[in-house]
Amino acid sequence: MTHTRVGIIGAGPAGLLLGHLLSARGVDNVILESRTREHVEHRQRAGVLEQNTVDVLRACGAGARMDRQGLVHEGIELRFDRESHRIDFPSLTGGRTVMVYAQTEVVKDLIALREGPLLFEAEALSADPDTGVVRYRHDDGQHELRCDFVVACDGFHGIGRAAMPSITTFQRDYPFAWLGILADVPPSCQELIYAHHERGFALHSMRSPHVSRLYLQVDPRDDLADWPDERIWDELETRFAVEGDWKLERGPITDRSITPMRSFVAEPMRHRRLFLAGDAAHIVPPTGAKGLNLAAADVTLLARALTGGEEELLGGYSEAALRRVWRAEHFSYQMTSMLHRDPHQTPFDYRLQLSQLRYTAGSPAAQASLAENYVGLPLS
Ligand code: FAD
Ligand code: PHB
Repeated sequence: MTHTRVGIIGAGPAGLLLGHLLSARGVDNVILESRTREHVEHRQRAGVLEQNTVDVLRACGAGARMDRQGLVHEGIELRFDRESHRIDFPSLTGGRTVMVYAQTEVVKDLIALREGPLLFEAEALSADPDTGVVRYRHDDGQHELRCDFVVACDGFHGIGRAAMPSITTFQRDYPFAWLGILADVPPSCQELIYAHHERGFALHSMRSPHVSRLYLQVDPRDDLADWPDERIWDELETRFAVEGDWKLERGPITDRSITPMRSFVAEPMRHRRLFLAGDAAHIVPPTGAKGLNLAAADVTLLARALTGGEEELLGGYSEAALRRVWRAEHFSYQMTSMLHRDPHQTPFDYRLQLSQLRYTAGSPAAQASLAENYVGLPLS
């Protein structure tokens, strides 16, 4: 049986960044990932890195390509009632911004920098919080890894959370989903557009000056077959429509998926030798662009605690992480509720929603609150 100081389950952004931070501090660790390298490097997901995440990646030497190829964004646009309203981040947050740089690229950069063991197609089968033993399947055989500490960075569907002996979960499911597309067409905007429309929410994001990423609120029961290309573009065009001569450019769609929307938190995030980090412990609806950033914040805290290994720091991890998690949960819930059409919404609710949008667009105080949450509150 092999021994390591920290066994990490999952090579998503949480597991890879944790491994990198620990290796940089001389803490021996092993990463087990159930999927192939090809799969984890091409899984289309997040696009916005908040200022803290950018700072952490730079400080640990993983920010070079991000700084060359990422797009610094100083604001977002809110669209509703066929009008555009800009929210300027630096002036509202003391100079903070976000970086548009895809999760796929963060993952590729961290894999390229990896020095310690990273096993692909190695599926963790169990993790024991008392002994720190992880059983896993690799190369057609079963193996055991003995760890001083185990960190489950294995996403929402992993095995880590189930291995915690007592856990309380909090959940909210939304009656809508996001249909996301990647298209080979230059973005039709310079900043992200979050659009509220009576037919539902739409988001215009981007991956590079040549590739656009767009999302549409759809029914969670919808199938991709219900959405041929032309229907997607027509619906996006309708929801982004604005007074003036703005035009949505169309192009070939290269990737598409439908993602359900949920809020979820598991408490606590530690039991004895076992820790949870990232989507394994919490999910936010993507409207606030917080999921990957929360994962990065968790492992930044955890890397500090695991480096010293003192019980005081390790014991404080769950509480410190959860304080930030709940803030992000609330922000993501608020952004989601403000921007989506709930099929059960009454005319009263609809008017409240429009009132909130108008207030946000017109009040510097409301804008400052949105901006400080969006760029990310300082890491404690
Ligand atoms: P994951 O990325 O899920 O990684 C978990 C890893 O563990 C996976 O590689 C999985 O294969 C592996 N694994 C699972 N089980 C096992 C096992 N038993 N053994 C070994 N390995 C295992 N967040 C943002 O911050 N900004 C955004 O703009 C944003 N947009 C999003 C848009 C969409 C459409 C979606 C779906 C998500 C978005 N997110 C966003 C959320 C973000 O993608 C996730 O929060 C992030 O991937 C979490 O990282 P993670 O490492 O915790 O989990
Ligand atoms: C993305 O670019 O994928 C993205 C951007 C902002 C969000 C969610 C996703 O709020």
